[in-house]
Amino acid sequence: MSDGASRYRDSAAPDYGHGFHAGNVGDAWKHLGLVEALRLARPASGAMHYLESHAGEGRYRLGSTGEWSAGIERVVAAADAQPRAVPEPVARWIGLCRRLGYAGRSSSWAGSPDVARALLEPDDRLSLWERDAAANAALARLFDGDSRARIVSGDGLAGLAREVHAAEASASAVVVLVDPPWSAKDDWLRVPDALADAVAATDRATFLLWYPVKSLTRPNAMLARLAARGVRSTVAELVTTPLDLRRGRLNGSGLLAVRPPAGWAGSMAGSAPFLGAACATHRGAWSLRLLDSGDPAPRA
Ligand SMILES: C[S@@+](CC[C@H](N)C(=O)[O-])C[C@H]1O[C@@H](n2cnc3c(N)ncnc32)[C@H](O)[C@@H]1O
Repeated sequence: MSDGASRYRDSAAPDYGHGFHAGNVGDAWKHLGLVEALRLARPASGAMHYLESHAGEGRYRLGSTGEWSAGIERVVAAADAQPRAVPEPVARWIGLCRRLGYAGRSSSWAGSPDVARALLEPDDRLSLWERDAAANAALARLFDGDSRARIVSGDGLAGLAREVHAAEASASAVVVLVDPPWSAKDDWLRVPDALADAVAATDRATFLLWYPVKSLTRPNAMLARLAARGVRSTVAELVTTPLDLRRGRLNGSGLLAVRPPAGWAGSMAGSAPFLGAACATHRGAWSLRLLDSGDPAPRA
């Protein structure tokens, strides 16, 4: 099939397997941002509801080589070499990766649902969508017996606004991760539109959207599309290969946060120099783009 858009709509065909990318620098940035969001959004009392629209398998077996060796492996090596230089959020996240099984080659990599679960309390809830049948079955096995978790097979974007709105009614804090495969061009339209609908339907929920950065063209167009819908956000983009050196490849990634908890942007900005230096493919050449479109306007 040559048309990416129709491939996206073919629900029978897996269009993406995250196993190949598990533990890469994009996963590192995403999971670090998720851990910080869940930590900082923890309410003083009451339960939290974590929702994820594109959950994946929940756990991956790392091969003897793979993208993880340019991601988590480099971060851990840098941390082991200079333990006193490790920013607190990075140290916390590395500790969690290790507790969840990361030990280098042939070890286990916790996907975002498993990372989130490790930070949740007994009264919290998780709602996880995964469209691919095999990935969904693996996820269901991983969460088997965990009464906090609801695993849904299907499109995680279709009912996002309704689901997050419902979660707000029963939880003190709601955190949502949107982590699509970006395997079709129309993801760059469909994803921000679904996010804007969900933001408009809710008052308090924190949203995190992960996206790849090959060049700034598509990310900037997506940010403009969200701004045109009135979505206020904080964006933290980490680029570890200069964008003009390697066009059309994954050079970095962004996390867009809507209603981030206080301190989240500071955690990301404070962690970027360590992660950037550790993962830069050209020595010392990394960059952080931090954008803040301001606090959300109060709702009438
Ligand atoms: C990037 S991976 C998720 C990785 C995971 N969030 C993590 O960090 O461990 C994207 C997942 O979305 C799934 N997927 C693709 N389109 C989807 C859709 N419309 N709704 C739900 N899941 C979808 C893919 O099968 C894939 O497992």
